[in-house]
Parts: sequence; structure tokens; C-alpha cells
Amino acid sequence: MHEEKSPRKIPFLQGFLCLLVVLLASFPSCSFAASRSSATKKKASASSVIFPVSGNVYPKGYYQVTVNIGQPPKPYFLDIDTGSDLTWLQCDAPCAKCTPAPHSPYKPNKNLVTCKDPLCVSLYWPTSHQCESLDQCDYQVEYADRGSSLGVLVQDLFPLRFTNGSISAPRLAFGCGYDQEIPGPNPPYTDGVLGLGTGKSSILSQLNGLGLTRNVIGHCLSVQGGGFLFFGDDLVPSSGIVWTSLSSNSLEKHYSVGPADLFFGGQASGVKGQSIVFDSGSTYNYFNSQAYNAVVSLLKKDINGRKQLQDAVDDKSLPICWKAPKPFKSILDVKSYFKPLALVFTSAKNVQFQLQPEAYLIVTKQGNACLGILNGTEVGIGKFNVIGDISLQDKLVIYDNEKQQIGWASANCNRLPNVDRDYSEGYYQPYSANFNILEGSCPATLWLH
Ligand SMILES: *[C@@H]1O[C@H](CO)[C@@H](O)[C@H](O)[C@H]1NC(C)=O
Ligand SMILES: *[C@@H]1O[C@H](CO)[C@@H](O)[C@H](O)[C@H]1NC(C)=O
Repeated sequence: MHEEKSPRKIPFLQGFLCLLVVLLASFPSCSFAASRSSATKKKASASSVIFPVSGNVYPKGYYQVTVNIGQPPKPYFLDIDTGSDLTWLQCDAPCAKCTPAPHSPYKPNKNLVTCKDPLCVSLYWPTSHQCESLDQCDYQVEYADRGSSLGVLVQDLFPLRFTNGSISAPRLAFGCGYDQEIPGPNPPYTDGVLGLGTGKSSILSQLNGLGLTRNVIGHCLSVQGGGFLFFGDDLVPSSGIVWTSLSSNSLEKHYSVGPADLFFGGQASGVKGQSIVFDSGSTYNYFNSQAYNAVVSLLKKDINGRKQLQDAVDDKSLPICWKAPKPFKSILDVKSYFKPLALVFTSAKNVQFQLQPEAYLIVTKQGNACLGILNGTEVGIGKFNVIGDISLQDKLVIYDNEKQQIGWASANCNRLPNVDRDYSEGYYQPYSANFNILEGSCPATLWLH
């Protein structure tokens, strides 16, 4: 979850930014808005893009994809974040405050987005945005975990291979971040963030605006690490997915759904009418204090009643940890000690999001089980309950902005639909990816074509 703010002024960077503006003036090729509107009608031929994902919930704390940007293209590792809109890279603008990253910072090159550009306006929506004297689009993103990125919007080529075999390099806008705060003892080791939120500035909205993909994202994050991410709707199974509508509040910038009631071990917990946000940029879940207090007290009551587990106060991995008589070896070992949680959506029949114990606990290096649900009220998340990576694992999760709905199904995320191999061998074949969908009525086979 994030919010954009009016950026602080960084006086010593203005010399550099002036230079960019002057260069831009002699290359008046920023026809982004124009090309966007003229291409909107081409949706019929829209295809998809698949990215292999790497990373895990513990110990890494994030999932990333490799995105190639620029000409010649260079690879960047980006943290996948459905909780924020703006994609940004650490940027040599020069970098006032860059954090350790796998690749050298992106070098901007005559490619500033102007302050009047609709994309810049959309970054600030719903607050009005004021253009400063310089013809550039300043941005500042602050994340709920107190990290932030400050910079300017630029645009560059994103070479992408589509599932229909064609290659295209659309010019997309993203943030060139020259001042980053990354919180916590274990910050993600990436070059930036891939913002996949609902806003117009997200890479997905831009691809959709150009008529290249449908406004749909899916991810499948494996409990064993890795998985895949896709843009477009070609890989969405036609059955087996449980869908729920996105909240219609137009001020809502997140993928939020609800209302949902919280169940513990198949019993109503008394926590009702909750708003749920799906956020792949969050490692753990954040529940508001009502839901958090209920979960913590129900879990403690259950655990204390069974007298098998003890508090592991010496394990600082997360605020609440338990130890078993013998250290847990794998996440599968927690199953017999903990009950499942479920979010039961009340606006439709039979729609629930299950959180099996392995979807809300981690097993730490010390062999303890720690609660992967954190107190959202402490970080100022308000009424929301954020569902992070820990509970999105081993599920195919689809964010469908076309139909304004989110869907999920249990899935084996270890197998990437193997487009790479099929195309590199020089022939095209429909490839059937067996997602092994367990929840829902029918098994689904996905076809790439
Ligand atoms: C393949 O998909 C891309 C992206 O949607 C589209 O631009 C292109 O026209 C498609 N190619 C064919 C041959 O359909
Ligand atoms: C969660 O945080 C709120 C606000 O700081 C606090 O009032 C509440 O007691 C916390 N809940 C638990 C179980 O610690």
C-alpha cells in the first residue's frame, strides 16, 4: 500500500534536471498521450506477456521479476507490487540516495515526462497536482512499511515478447528514483519496484492503453520460491477460479474487495464486514487491530489449550513465534498445530479466501513457527486488512481490471508456462500448462496461443 505525496524539493539536483529539460526541448518526440488514444481500439488482437518470478516469503521477503528496459535493453530486478501504481528504478540522476542493488542505476537520457502529461496528473489523483517551474514530473511514493522513493517520471523502451510470438518495445513511463528510503533490517535487494496497482500510471494500464494487453494481471507465487507473473488475459483459466468484485468506491486506489467475515477453524470469529486489500508488495499480512486482536487471541487460546507449543520469545524473526517440542523442519510441519483462517465474502455465495496454517505462518531458521499476520493499526493501514505474499502463495491470483474483479484458485506455481522454450526452438506450438487447480469444480488447462 502506498500514497503519493508532493515531493520535497531537492535543490542540488536542479542543475541536472534543467539539463534534461533543455535536451528534451530539442527532441519533441514525447507523443505518449497521442499514441495512447489512437491505439485504444486495437484490443481485439491483444496478447499476453509472461515473466518468470524469483524470490520467496522467508527469508527473502519479496518476489521479483527481471524487466529489460532501454536501448540497448538492460535487465533490472523489480519487486512485484500490486499495492502501488508506479514502477520505478534506482536512477543515476545522479543518485542522491541509492541503496545497494543488483545492477547499476538506470541512466536517464533525454526522456523526461512533462508535468502536464496525463500520466503525471494521474500520479497525483485524486489530489490536484501543481506543476513546479521545471517542466518535469516529480513524484514521491511512500509505502506503508515506511519505505519511499523520490524522483522524476521518464519514459523508455520496454522490449517485451508476447505469447503470440511477436516482439514489441513500447515506450512506457516510469519513475527514475534518485532518493530512496528502504526500511527494515532486511530490505529487498532489487533495482526498484514493478507497480501493478489500479492507477493509470502503472505499466499494465499503459500497455492496455496502447492496445497491447488486456488490463489483467495474474501471479502464481510458489511456496518453494519462484513462480510466474503475467499481463493480459490469455492465461486466465475459463473455470476453476473463484471471483469477487473489486470495491466500487472510486477513491479506492487499491485492489480492495469485501465485505468479508473472518473465520477461525471453521467458526465465525465475530469479526465482520472487513475490507481486504490484495498486495503482492507486502511480504506478510497486515490486519486492522480489530481483526488482529481477534486472530491473536483465538490462536493463543487454541495453542494454550492444547499445551503442545510454547512462546519462542527469543526468536525475533516476527513479533509472535512459537516453538514445538522438536524444531519445525518445514512449513508443512505446522499444519497439525494450527487451525485454518478464512475470509468469507458475504456479498456472494461460496466465495471464501482460505488461509491454511502454511499461508499465515513461516518456519524460521531457528525452527519456530512465527505468525505472518502483523498489526496493521501500528503501521497506519486504517480499516484495511492487507493480504500479502505469505497468503498469496500456491494460488493463481488474477486481478481483472476489465471486469473489476479478483479471482483465485489453488495452483502449483512451480511450472512456468514454457513460452521461452517453445519459441526459441523456432516453431510455434500451443503449449498446455497444467496448473493443477485444486479448488473449485473443474481442473483447468491453460493454453498459450
Ligand atoms: C501479438 O500481440 C501483440 C500484443 O498484443 C499485438 O500487438 C500483435 O499485433 C499480435 N500479433 C499478431 C500476429 O496477432
Ligand atoms: C495493535 O495496535 C494497536 C495500535 O497500536 C494497539 O492498540 C493494539 O493493542 C495492538 N494489538 C495487539 C494484539 O497487540
